[in-house]
Amino acid sequence: MAITVLVGVQWGDEGKGKIIDVLTEKVDVVVRFQGGNNAGHTVEIGKEKFVLHLVPSGIFRRKATCIIGNGVVVDPLALEEEIISLEKRGVKIGKRLQVSTRSHLIFAYHRMMDAMHEGSRSEGKKIGTTKRGIGPAYADKMSRIGIRALEMLDLKRLEKSFREHAEYYNKIFKAAKIEQVDTDAEWKKVSKAARFLGKYVTDTVLTINEAASEKKDILFEGAQGMWLDVDYGTYPFVTSSNTTTSGACTGSGLSPKYIENVVGVIKAYTTRVGEGPFPTELKDEMGELIRKTGREFGATTGRPRRCGWFDAISSRYSCMVNGVDRLAVTKLDVLDMLPEIKICTAYRINGKKTTVMPSDTEDITAAVPVYETMPGWQQTTSNARSFKQLPKNAQKYLKRISELAGSKIGIISVGPNRDQTFYI
Ligand code: IMP
Repeated sequence: MAITVLVGVQWGDEGKGKIIDVLTEKVDVVVRFQGGNNAGHTVEIGKEKFVLHLVPSGIFRRKATCIIGNGVVVDPLALEEEIISLEKRGVKIGKRLQVSTRSHLIFAYHRMMDAMHEGSRSEGKKIGTTKRGIGPAYADKMSRIGIRALEMLDLKRLEKSFREHAEYYNKIFKAAKIEQVDTDAEWKKVSKAARFLGKYVTDTVLTINEAASEKKDILFEGAQGMWLDVDYGTYPFVTSSNTTTSGACTGSGLSPKYIENVVGVIKAYTTRVGEGPFPTELKDEMGELIRKTGREFGATTGRPRRCGWFDAISSRYSCMVNGVDRLAVTKLDVLDMLPEIKICTAYRINGKKTTVMPSDTEDITAAVPVYETMPGWQQTTSNARSFKQLPKNAQKYLKRISELAGSKIGIISVGPNRDQTFYI
């Protein structure tokens, strides 16, 4: 495994949770490096289904140390609840979980601000956020007024910071004539969570660097996906962090020189949840069929995901930015019943054909996909355990998307369970 970064190649929800779970079998340390509880990583073990939002997916492997790095924004109430619910279901956490002293905290006023911003955006400008307060918490970090996890180790200091900050937000809410934060009530919840979480808070930069120098296997677990990256994504319809490979370093404190491997998780088709451009979106019965077959509903918000064909243009650009060594293709089985399958190989933008992903979101919005059509296989793939066991047309489809994306395929997933995964 060595030191590996795993990222989403598309708009998130590529099935990263499942691939991480498979890869963590032999991993010593698993690190979340960005995002917050906007993420929803689904892991199915036997008949049990878990949805993780903040805790790294390595938590199901008894030996793995799980780190929430400095690049993550942590909602203390959500993390407390997640740990308790995992423990209730028999997952042993103990000292295996560490939260970076430097990670920034999300409070009620961030969630309220998130909702206020969304509410004030006109139609067409809405981002469709998860309303978890992610954007406002990162904004505070960059504005240098955020509160970090290390303050949870000193409740007096945390209370002072929290009350000052809540007051600052309440002034804004008052001026906007919306409900204000009940500071006392919120402080009760926050102080309880801080007391509970204190034992997990430590300088995780040291843990990660020690593990790297001891040549341990480390897996960086990306959340969301390339096209939601605040720098490279379909701005402003993005999340507020760097979801791409480079985010693993700034979000954890490990130097880029250690990264040996990049796994890009990609669905055999495309989905997006929330607003923003999506050139290959299918707003017809086919989109509905893929959504139903693929159970495409957001793991965090339950919203129906928008579904569409595989997009080679955005995938190739994404593999380039992320430096993907190997692709992990998920949900191939969802396409099993289709008589034919389309792949977007170019965009037509205002009459001009291009094979390069534009940087202007308006151009991506205007893009009309140019498709090539491949025959389907109309056989079940969910029992396949090797590339050779796949129907010939499924093999051809995979070879074609790999060629177009410019990256080799290393892993294929043909169902939600651990054993429905194989390596090439
Ligand atoms: P935020 O991260 O809640 O601010 O939302 C910004 C955009 O990212 C919205 O379009 C969300 O739907 C999307 N988003 C955030 N987290 C995820 C995720 O884990 N999967 C897919 N989309 C996400």
